[in-house]
Amino acid sequence: RGLLSLPKLREMARRGEKIAMLTAYDATFARVLDDAGVDVLLVGDSLGNVMQGQTSTLPVTLEHMAYHTRCVAAGKRSAWLITDLPFGSYEASPQQAFESAVALMRAGAQMVKLEGGGAMAETVRFLTERGIPVCAHLGLTPQRVHALGGFRVQGRDDAAAAALRNDAAALSAAGAAMLVLELVPSSLAAEITHAHPELMTIGIGAGAQCSGQVLVLHDMLGITTGKRPRFVRDFTREPGSSADAPGLSIAQAAARYVADVKAGTFPDESLHGY
Ligand code: KIV
Ligand code: NA
Repeated sequence: RGLLSLPKLREMARRGEKIAMLTAYDATFARVLDDAGVDVLLVGDSLGNVMQGQTSTLPVTLEHMAYHTRCVAAGKRSAWLITDLPFGSYEASPQQAFESAVALMRAGAQMVKLEGGGAMAETVRFLTERGIPVCAHLGLTPQRVHALGGFRVQGRDDAAAAALRNDAAALSAAGAAMLVLELVPSSLAAEITHAHPELMTIGIGAGAQCSGQVLVLHDMLGITTGKRPRFVRDFTREPGSSADAPGLSIAQAAARYVADVKAGTFPDESLHGY
C-alpha cells in the first residue's frame, strides 16, 4: 500500500472506511503493525505507563517523546505517524506548543496530539496555520487525571455532554483534523462524529460509530499488568476461546484488530461500550 497522508485518511473517513490506529513506541513493533495494515501509529505518552512503568503520563518529557518518535519513524513504512505533546510541553502558550511540536516533527512525527478543549483552540489554530497537523483529545484526558479525580467515563450528564460538544466544535473550527474521544458514552461520540464530517474522530472506549479506533498496543496484546479496562480486547485470543488455547502471534493479532475495526465488529457495544 502507498503512504498514508492526511488527504488519504480524510478520504477514508468520507467513504466510511474505519481508521485503525494503535500505539507504537519502537522500530520493530512499528514495522510489524505497519505491515499488518495499521493505518496510523501513535507514539502515545502512554509510554510513561507501558515503557517506563510509571503510574501516570505526567512524568513523560518532550525528550522521551522525541526519542520514541525517532524509533517508530525508523521502523514504519506507510502508516501515518502521530506523537503526543506531553504534559507541560504545550499548555503555557501557543508559542510553547509550536516549539515542542517542531521538536516532535523533526523527530519524524507527521501530526501532534494534545489534550484539552476550547481552552486549547487558540493553540490548535496557531499550529495548523503554521503547517502542523493537529489531533485533539477529549473525554478522559490522562494528563488531567488528578483534576478529573480518576479514570472514569466523561460526558455522562447533560452539562458535561454539552461541554464536550462545545469543545469538539471549537477544536474543529480551530483546524484540528482529528479528535481522539476517550471514555465517553457511545451515543455522544456518535453525535460528535456526525456533527463534524470534516473532523476524523478516533474512539477509545467511545463506541463503534467514530471514524476510527485506537488502543494501547500492550493492552490489545493482553500483556498490560493490572486491571484491564472494559473497552480493551485481547486480540491474541479468539473471542470466547479458553485460557489455555494457543494464542495468535503479534502480527496476527494486529491484523485481526485492523480487520475487526474495518468491519465494525470492534468495539462491540455490549462488551466494550458505555
Ligand atoms: O497515550 C496514548 O496512548 C493515547 C491513546 C490511548 C489515545 O493518548
Ligand atoms: Na496520550
